Amino acid sequence: MTERIRFKRGDLTKERVDAIVNAANERLRGGGGVDGAIHRRAGPGLLAECIELYSEGCPTGEARITGGHELHAKYVIHTVGPIWEGGSASEPELLAACHAHAIALAAEHGIKSLAFPAISCGVYGYPPEKAAPVALGAVKEALEQHPSIELVRFVFLDADLRDLFSAAADRLG
Ligand code: APR
Repeated sequence: MTERIRFKRGDLTKERVDAIVNAANERLRGGGGVDGAIHRRAGPGLLAECIELYSEGCPTGEARITGGHELHAKYVIHTVGPIWEGGSASEPELLAACHAHAIALAAEHGIKSLAFPAISCGVYGYPPEKAAPVALGAVKEALEQHPSIELVRFVFLDADLRDLFSAAADRLG
């Protein structure tokens, strides 16, 4: 797997990268999990910007960009992962699309480093062992299309999840 993809255990909201990627919902009005943590640390300006810029929210599989407000990161890229329904409701395609669109949007904005959580692997119930190869395959392909992106870091609260994604990356080569 390319040197441009890294893995670490930590709190995504504290990452010092150009953009952090939020695992949002279609309403784009905050929520629980990493979405809630990002809004708490970014401050109320983030919600206000989401309401102002994206009154219609964001469809699953797509991505929207806002400022980082009180976060270290200059931008937040909000993407909406699929809710796991057993694997036959286009979940893999939608999860791949989240990563591809987030990276394309980052490249459009001159972003060189971004940090992802394990999208859909929490409340949305996507089995991490199934999500990891889909997410990593999509990121690898997107990085080939966007050479301006220098670093994608996956950040996990849970060390086991970090190890799972890192092992999946080794298998992908
Ligand atoms: N840093 C890194 N990872 C985190 C953090 C954090 N601060 N907080 C949570 N996570 C991890 C979770 O442990 C999980 O592995 O992010 C992954 C994604 O979990 P969720 O945040 O639940 O996101 P998701 O499964 O995509 O569900 C999205 O949950 O929070 C709501 O508003 C959100 O409705 C949306 C839904």
